[in-house]
Parts: sequence; structure tokens; C-alpha cells
Amino acid sequence: MFMKNKNISDLTTQYNNYIYPKPTENLYEEWIKKNRFQICDPNYCWHRLWPEKPYSSARLDILIAGCGSDQAAILAKCNPNHNFIGIDLSENSLKHEKKLIKENNIENLKLYCEDFRSVKFKNKFDYIISSGVIHHLDDPSTGLDYFYKNLKDDGVIYIMVYGNKKSHATNEVKQLFKKLSLKQNDDSIDFVKKIISKLNNLHPAKVFAETEIKQDLSHPSGIVDFFLHKNENFYSIKELIKLLKNNNLVIKNFANGRIKPLSKFFSDAPLEIRKKVENMPIEDKLEIAQSLNWNDRKIDVICCKTKNKNNSIIYNKITLEKIYTYQYHGVEYQINGTEVKINDKINNSIFKMNFENNKINIKDILDGKKKITKISLGLSDSERINFFNKILFMIDNCILDFSYHPVANYKQFYSVKTN
Ligand SMILES: C[S@@+](CC[C@H](N)C(=O)[O-])C[C@H]1O[C@@H](n2cnc3c(N)ncnc32)[C@H](O)[C@@H]1O
Repeated sequence: MFMKNKNISDLTTQYNNYIYPKPTENLYEEWIKKNRFQICDPNYCWHRLWPEKPYSSARLDILIAGCGSDQAAILAKCNPNHNFIGIDLSENSLKHEKKLIKENNIENLKLYCEDFRSVKFKNKFDYIISSGVIHHLDDPSTGLDYFYKNLKDDGVIYIMVYGNKKSHATNEVKQLFKKLSLKQNDDSIDFVKKIISKLNNLHPAKVFAETEIKQDLSHPSGIVDFFLHKNENFYSIKELIKLLKNNNLVIKNFANGRIKPLSKFFSDAPLEIRKKVENMPIEDKLEIAQSLNWNDRKIDVICCKTKNKNNSIIYNKITLEKIYTYQYHGVEYQINGTEVKINDKINNSIFKMNFENNKINIKDILDGKKKITKISLGLSDSERINFFNKILFMIDNCILDFSYHPVANYKQFYSVKTN
């Protein structure tokens, strides 16, 4: 049983007074109709959660620890085949979740108003989702320990924590709000808005506010969550890996391409430098990638138990002969003959990849239905090596996704029939 300490009573007060996120008013209009999905949605990201397993629509037991005002209802509505449990400290956030449950006839979601670490379950979960939560705990390890103990052996956890790079300038500005001991109220919200608006347009905190957190700034709960939080931690990927390790967990995959791309920075570097980078320990590579990409407001990772490290695509070499490749979400592809122009909108990068050999159908590479060995059947040995190197480059830089099984087209799951 976790005692209600200051950390938990602060969080309960904040998220009761300012429910987060800005609540979804009409789930059908705002999510289903627009084919929007949560990045942790098990149908959408099955190939990232379990690249070693073929897609299955069989029922999963899913826990959302710290579900906020709408996350549990959205996921339950979009995945009627799975069972969901949502836990949150904030009664008012859960009140909104309940409203969404009622309005949308959701039958596969149970809610608990508790510190999730105090809730005991008889059965373990296939999948635990905790987004923007453990970095608010005074000891995040207690959250990870709970996840480990409540996860099935082949289960996975989606965790989002704040990174410590891109938020650096804003954190410096926040020192002022801390020194002034600003309370979480309307006057402070106004004060914060005014300070941010007066910053030099080139101040990195201003750039950050106007790009990354524009949506949060449009809503009082977003401003409190971002600028006036009393409990928050920011991580380097190395620190996160260490924290996971202490709780017998490892990163299995990334849930998006924000911080991982690396080889694109060295593609034209001398061989000696490329080799040096290639031979670095994975933790060092990820640390460098986090700094070079500078896109870590959120670090979204998919984790598994350390005993299943052999299923991690981060710690193991990809067996190219066995993979199916798939378009990366957030990336746009423009195919023109043997060339594909790739616009990675997540990292603001443009690539031009040339599959000069017209024995390759570029659409097949993006479709997730054929093994790449099959796609490359017509190629000579040297052409195949060249082709596989391009595929590896695209995977490393998060402009191509993959699985060891055919990738289900997640969009088909969103033709959810509603009232
Ligand atoms: C930033 S919000 C994120 C909400 C949701 N996960 C999302 O991504 O939209 C953090 C939520 O976690 C909840 N929370 C924080 N610590 C918790 C704990 N120990 N047990 C249950 N809920 C907690 C807060 O009440 C709040 O609603």
C-alpha cells in the first residue's frame, strides 16, 4: 500500500483542478471519424509492440496507469476486442472518462480512482500503457517495479517520459516560476502566458512553446501541466535505460522516430568515422542520437522484461532475410519511377532514395505484405547487398518500419461502427 505522501496529494490536487489532457468532447467526431489514433494503440502499433509475433485480434488485457481525462475511453472505443482497465488519481479526470463511456456505449473499460501502485490484480496484463506519468512520481522506480510485477512474461509496456534536451531552455525559464513559488491558479496561468509572449522570438523556449506545445498552451490544464508542475523529471535516454534496467526491463522498440535516427548524420562521413560510430555501444549511440535529433520533448519507448531481451529490436541485429517492411507513420513517400522522395515530418528531414534497378517495386517495400527477400528476388548478388544496405539505412533512420510478420493495415481497424 502506498501512503498518500506530498507527491501524491500534489498530483491529485493538480489533476483534479486541471484535468489533463484538454478533454475530448465528442469521441466519434474527434477520433473515430478522423481516423485518429493514440500512438500506443495496440492495433495500430502491433508490429512495433510484438515484431516477433504475427498480428492477432485475440483479446488482450490492457492496463492504462494514469489514464487522464480521455486516453482509456479512446483506446477502449477504438479496440472493442480488448479489455481495458484505467487507473487515475484524479476523480475529475475519471468523471470525464465516464461521460465518454456513457456517450459512446463503451463496454470494455473499467476505471479505478487510486494510486495505481496500490491496486492489486489477480491476473497479469498483456500490455501496460503509461504515458506522461512515471516522470511525475517522486520515485519512478516504484512505478516500473509495479509494471514489471503486473506484466505477463511476454507482455510489453509503452512508457512516455520527458527527454532532457529539447525542454532545457523552457526548464531554465521555469526556474523563475519556481523562485516566485507560483501557485497553480488563473493568475499564475496569465503571468506565465505573458512572460512567454515577451520572450525574444529566437529564444529557444519561445520557439519550443510555439512549435511543440502550442496545443497545450491553448488550454489552462496544458499550461499548468507544462509550466507550473511541482513534480517532474527529465531524462537522457541513458538514464532511462538505467532506470529500466534496475527494474529488470529493457527497451524493445521505439514507439516513434523522434530520437533514434543516427546513421543519416554520418552517411557521407569518412569510413573510419562511420565504423567508429557503428562500433559504439548501443546506449552511447542512442545518447548521441538524442542530442543530434533534439526531438525529445517526449521519449516514447516500448519495453519488455529483460529476460526477453532477445526480442528487442534495439539490442539485436535485424535478420534482414526474415523481415517485412512497412511505411513509417509520420513519414510521407512520393514515388517517381525508381526514386522515392521521403519526407520525415517528425524530424524535418528529406531523403531521396534511388532504387535504380527497376526490378524493385517501391510500393511493395512500403506495404508490409511481402518479405524483402521476395521483393529482391530478381536482383543479382551485388544488387541485393546494395538493396539491403538501403533498407537497413531506412530502418535505422525511422523512415521505414518492419516486422518479422506481415504488417496489418491498422487503418482497417478504425472503421469502428458507432451508435
Ligand atoms: C500528464 S497526465 C497524462 C494522462 C494520459 N496518460 C495521457 O497521456 O493523456 C498524467 C496523469 O497521470 C495521473 N497519475 C499520476 N501519478 C499517478 C499515480 N501514481 N496513480 C494514478 N494516476 C496517476 C495524473 O492524475 C494524471 O491524470
